[in-house]
Amino acid sequence: MKGPVTFAIAGFGDRGSTYASMQRLFPDKMKIAAVADLDPRKVEKARALYGIPEENCFGSAEEMLEKDKLADVLVVSTMDRQHVGHAIPGLKKGYHILLEKPISPDIEKCREILEVAKDCPGKVIVCHVLRYTAFYNAIKDLLAGGRIGELVSICASENVAYWHQAHSFVRGNWRNSKETSPMILQKSCHDMDIFTWLTGRKCESVSSVGGTYLFKKEKAPEGAGPRCLDCKIKDGCVFDAEKIYVTDPKTGILNGKGWATSILSVENTVESTYEALRTGPYGRCVYLCDNDVVDHQQTLLTMEGGLTISFTMCAFTQDCYRHFKAMGTKGEIEADMKSNVIHVREFGKAEELIDVGAMAEDLKGHGGGDSGIIADFLEMLLTGSEATERTTTLENSMQSHFMALAAEESRLHGGKAVDLKDFMCYNIK
Ligand SMILES: NC(=O)c1ccc[n+]([C@@H]2O[C@H](COP(=O)([O-])OP(=O)(O)OC[C@H]3O[C@@H](n4cnc5c(N)ncnc54)[C@H](O)[C@@H]3O)[C@@H](O)[C@H]2O)c1
Repeated sequence: MKGPVTFAIAGFGDRGSTYASMQRLFPDKMKIAAVADLDPRKVEKARALYGIPEENCFGSAEEMLEKDKLADVLVVSTMDRQHVGHAIPGLKKGYHILLEKPISPDIEKCREILEVAKDCPGKVIVCHVLRYTAFYNAIKDLLAGGRIGELVSICASENVAYWHQAHSFVRGNWRNSKETSPMILQKSCHDMDIFTWLTGRKCESVSSVGGTYLFKKEKAPEGAGPRCLDCKIKDGCVFDAEKIYVTDPKTGILNGKGWATSILSVENTVESTYEALRTGPYGRCVYLCDNDVVDHQQTLLTMEGGLTISFTMCAFTQDCYRHFKAMGTKGEIEADMKSNVIHVREFGKAEELIDVGAMAEDLKGHGGGDSGIIADFLEMLLTGSEATERTTTLENSMQSHFMALAAEESRLHGGKAVDLKDFMCYNIK
């Protein structure tokens, strides 16, 4: 294909606008040609930023998909349960698809898009952005190079951060699994995907425990009110929305326009943030929301060949980052995405430190994964190259979805072990 590759964005929210912004990084290779969002202010913002012709600006993805094909790639960055409904018509029109994760929380829907994609010319790439980070690629090379011998066990954790949990999984978009996805799929299908990719092994069985410990009515401190701005006990509450969105040095708007505040309003000003806290979902008390997703979950996975993995996801951490430790017959690798340093300890030898920050060009946006996935996809389309073992095709992504959904099935049944083969057979008719 000749460049620039043109993109139509379905859902110009946080993710859709992030992918569109990559046009600045790859100006000769990509061009935003069309946009659709339910919010006219977001459509207008995209139009103004990228000079999209009026006739290619739409009030919904459905409306955009009624038109003939408008670009080479359709970015499906609407909400979890809408993805397949937007991607299938796109595939049938001949678009390549950049598909936000999860594919769908409904396995039948995942199966449906897999079938449709087989008969369509477009490529589908699922946004498991971590595969495209310098951090996990360095770990993959170390494991493949045999530095720690045969891999026996992995211990990994996802530190969600108290403010991120409150933002996304208590007050915000992903608070309720019936509307979106269970948290292990929503947040951790990335981790499940990384485990299969790093180890090159399929998962055989899963068990998982966890629940909502804190963010519920019974745990509300005495005197807590429905909205933080009017709450009598806000001063002593770390989840106070005014602290998180306005005054906190890391996340508050008074100290720069952070990621969290940009979700509250299109304008992203102090005034619009206060207005959102007065009237919108993000100003609500964390103990009195309509959330049902977990705030802590632990999952044990048995992979082919007896390799075991323990994975912890927890809201109650100061910062938002992943920690990873791989233990092999001849050594161990320990790393975290906060320091971006990998420790390689071959038994009996001096420790080696690999500073991923020093060797990576871009650590922004999921540790560089957001730009990495776009760079890889553009390369595939412009050179006509085939998917590699790293490419997050639909088929590659399905394994992570089965693992996450099986973990949720286990959690809902008191942690019973779920055999992956049985789970997949039962769920694929
Ligand atoms: N790959 C990742 O690491 C990653 C990270 C965060 C979120 N996500 C996924 O990306 C998706 C979007 O998340 P987000 O954070 O951008 O949410 P968001 O709410 O910021 O954006 C979603 C946008 O879709 C729009 N929309 C809804 N229905 C629409 C329709 N019918 N037509 C057109 N637009 C419509 C909304 O108005 C909104 O602007 C979610 O499925 C989420 O799970 C992926």
